[in-house]
Amino acid sequence: SRTVRRGDEGGLEVGGLPVAEAVAQVGTPVYLLDEVDLRARAREFAEAFDGWRVYYAAKSFICTAVARWVFEEGLGVDVCSGGELAVALRAGVDPRVIGLHGNNKSVAELSAALDAGVGRIIVDSSDELDRLEELTRRRGTRARVMVRVTTGIEAHTHEYIATAHEDQKFGFSIASGQALEALRRCHESDQLELLGIHSHIGSQIFDTQGFEMAARRILGLHARVRDVCGVEMPEMDLGGGFGIAYTTMDSPSTPAELATSLREIVAHECRALDVAVPDLSIEPGRAISGPSTMAVYEVGTVKGVRLDSGAERLYVAVDGGMSDNIRPALYGAEYSATVANRASGALPRLSRVVGKHCEGGDILVRDEFLPGDVAPGDLVAVPASGAYSRSMASNYNHVPRPPVVSIRDGRLTTLVRRETLDDLLALDTGA
Ligand code: LLP
Repeated sequence: SRTVRRGDEGGLEVGGLPVAEAVAQVGTPVYLLDEVDLRARAREFAEAFDGWRVYYAAKSFICTAVARWVFEEGLGVDVCSGGELAVALRAGVDPRVIGLHGNNKSVAELSAALDAGVGRIIVDSSDELDRLEELTRRRGTRARVMVRVTTGIEAHTHEYIATAHEDQKFGFSIASGQALEALRRCHESDQLELLGIHSHIGSQIFDTQGFEMAARRILGLHARVRDVCGVEMPEMDLGGGFGIAYTTMDSPSTPAELATSLREIVAHECRALDVAVPDLSIEPGRAISGPSTMAVYEVGTVKGVRLDSGAERLYVAVDGGMSDNIRPALYGAEYSATVANRASGALPRLSRVVGKHCEGGDILVRDEFLPGDVAPGDLVAVPASGAYSRSMASNYNHVPRPPVVSIRDGRLTTLVRRETLDDLLALDTGA
């Protein structure tokens, strides 16, 4: 993140505070969130996509403060559950810039969204359309909807986070004609106000080509709707999924680069199809929350293991693991790690940062060169841990989840407090 640097003594500093000092106050493991950085990333998207609406994808990480900050920086919020919706509302986000997603929204979630008056519900199935029509009929209101479509694009990312190929659970397929059918149904419904098409092709995507292809296909569908229904829908959303750098091997596009290429392709296609350019929106999550936060752990044990090649690997075990970051185990995601409390002149050694959970796949950083003198008591920082880490954290092995603490101008604020054993035991009725 932007305000990370090495201080005079060689320790890492975030937001003007040495990590070691932050840890002395709040303990480990902890997610340290750089408020200035997160706000700057939100603002950068808003500025680059000026004239579009940017919805922050809450699933990457949400708490009241973060929802408030992104809203203050001019963003809306994309939520995909009643829980995320509740946080956004509590933060004071204007419901008109909240969008509700989900492939299986419950009646309670749809009702909460209608009660709040959210700006858009992104519908994902015919069953949901039935439910929504029934709910709005009973209330005597209408719902503003976008139709989530699958474009058939094979996004170059991990299978579990690619969402636009045909054989998966999201959206209405364009190829099969279901998307056009759903759009026509929404257009004709007295209960629904059709805003436009929504497409999200996947996550942690680097090549802009995937987005461009998706944009072309949904604009084609947009023009078909004009032909079939006789209206040009006012809006269109291209989803999120913009990749970030987890290691030095990743080189993501900037929001400005993304904006330029997406604007060009949309303008070009709209001219070719002879339709007006609709009001556009996007939904970045990871690109805003990810780089803003580092996870910090304390080293508990260090073990040398001899490899078949004869080389040695250090297993550096820390006080967290797959319960606070499931991404390496789930997606083979790569991270980097660095010793945060001091500088070291020791020769770097091939290391693997592992957690404290009871399985071999409990790996945080598969391959890293850490100083050979890394030892129990050292702090290890894993940068770019702000997206899909705390938000996907579990209590595996009855480990309490770490807090999220923001730093700004050298001052700490606890955004989400550390879970305690009492919190966990309180859920267990003891029966
Ligand atoms: N919009 C929709 C409709 C989405 O489904 C998602 C992510 C986003 C926006 C935001 O995508 P982002 O800009 O954050 O990439 N747990 C996985 C990622 C799952 C993403 C799910 N949908 C991971 O840790 O990589």
